[in-house]
Amino acid sequence: MNPTALITGASSGLGYEFAKLYAANGYNLIITARNEEKLQLLKEELTHIDVTVIPKDLSQPGASKELYQQVMDKKLPVTALVNNAGFGLNGNFDELSLQEQQDMLQVNITALTELTHYFLPSLKKAANQGLSAGILNVASTAAFQPGPKMAVYYASKSYVLSFSEALAEELKDTNVHVTTLCPGATGTNFFKTAKAENAKLAASTMSPQAVAKAGFEGYQKKHRVIVPGRMNRVGALAAKFVPRSVAARIAQNMNGANS
Ligand SMILES: NC(=O)c1ccc[n+]([C@@H]2O[C@H](COP(=O)([O-])OP(=O)(O)OC[C@H]3O[C@@H](n4cnc5c(N)ncnc54)[C@H](OP(=O)(O)O)[C@@H]3O)[C@@H](O)[C@H]2O)c1
Repeated sequence: MNPTALITGASSGLGYEFAKLYAANGYNLIITARNEEKLQLLKEELTHIDVTVIPKDLSQPGASKELYQQVMDKKLPVTALVNNAGFGLNGNFDELSLQEQQDMLQVNITALTELTHYFLPSLKKAANQGLSAGILNVASTAAFQPGPKMAVYYASKSYVLSFSEALAEELKDTNVHVTTLCPGATGTNFFKTAKAENAKLAASTMSPQAVAKAGFEGYQKKHRVIVPGRMNRVGALAAKFVPRSVAARIAQNMNGANS
């Protein structure tokens, strides 16, 4: 039996790259996002494996359960869950739409948590059968400090990192491993969606190919936390040693516009 990976946010950026990497390593795929056309195009690229397309808007309450049910109805045995879908919004908290920020929490936090809960039994079952089984959650270097001008986004990624590290410890005797990928700025649609194309942070990015490769390799090696790129690792380390208020001021500056 081929292993099967469920990848959220596979229509672009890191998710698209993860899909190609998992496929190249013999996984069948279940790919999801809102844009069905892009998912179908990805499926057409990956002719050597089985690809199931399930379009879903994860900002909608109940969407994760529907996705889980559709996977179960198709009797697809998920051995890898890649919680990658997510987005950010740039601006002061009170000036951004509350609804859009609630949608962000739904996608970045709630859907990730629900999918993990729904699919853990399948992953444990696969692990008990001697198959490699695990979860790859995409957080961010935003997880390491507060982020004024993207306050909810940074907080959501702190949740992803904390939740995933705790889960990794809970599951350490089950053979289901949990890897958290914490990318720094990466050249995807992220900044356009976040309306942060002019932010200083967007000026220097890693390629999505390099970031996804680091995440996939970390997942294969069962590492708990991966921060791709030397400068990102330095930043993540520095955030542990400077006062939180100083780290917040630096993040605010990076989230602000390039003058
Ligand atoms: N790029 C960066 O600088 C960076 C840095 C750190 C962490 N990250 C994280 O990396 C992950 C992937 O982002 P990316 O950089 O690859 O950006 P991206 O190219 O914009 O991809 C985001 C993916 O999430 C999906 N998505 C967004 N809203 C969704 C919704 N409501 N329902 C279902 N799917 C949804 C999008 O698909 P549809 O639009 O088709 O729904 C797309 O496939 C995110 O979790 C992001 O927070 C990115």
